[in-house]
Amino acid sequence: MLNNYETDEELKKIREERGYSYMDICEVCPEKLPNYEEKIKNFFEEHLHTDEEIRYAVAGSGYFDVRDCNEAWIRVWVKKGGMIILPAGMYHRFTLDESNYIKALRLFVGEPVWTPYNRPHDHLPARKEYLKAFLENEVGDRAVDAAA
Ligand code: LAC
Ligand code: NI
Repeated sequence: MLNNYETDEELKKIREERGYSYMDICEVCPEKLPNYEEKIKNFFEEHLHTDEEIRYAVAGSGYFDVRDCNEAWIRVWVKKGGMIILPAGMYHRFTLDESNYIKALRLFVGEPVWTPYNRPHDHLPARKEYLKAFLENEVGDRAVDAAA
């Protein structure tokens, strides 16, 4: 569980191991987030990024939706002390829950790029690499299972 993100040893270790040199804080609520309405709408449009999306909830909570191999939504409820790493090229969307508030650390390797590419953006190299790294393995494993 994360207590103080400035001194937390576990977070420090993760940052070192994964090269997360950049870190800032993003608070999502009408009072704290400029252009709240527009941003919350954009977060909920299914999109991908060309880099990992890394969020560590310091307070509050929210839902990250991703898809399984059959395109069904999987809802990940990220709460205080929880961290999520979405690989580059993975489609996802975000929405607040009933608490209507999340305060999240945003981590990044190097200079941050937050650009969302709304679905469909299947021609992007990041998407192709994601499919190669994750989906082909999954499908391959299941094909092996089915044959066994
Ligand atoms: C983002 C999230 C919320 O791109 O998906 O910032
Ligand atoms: Ni995103």
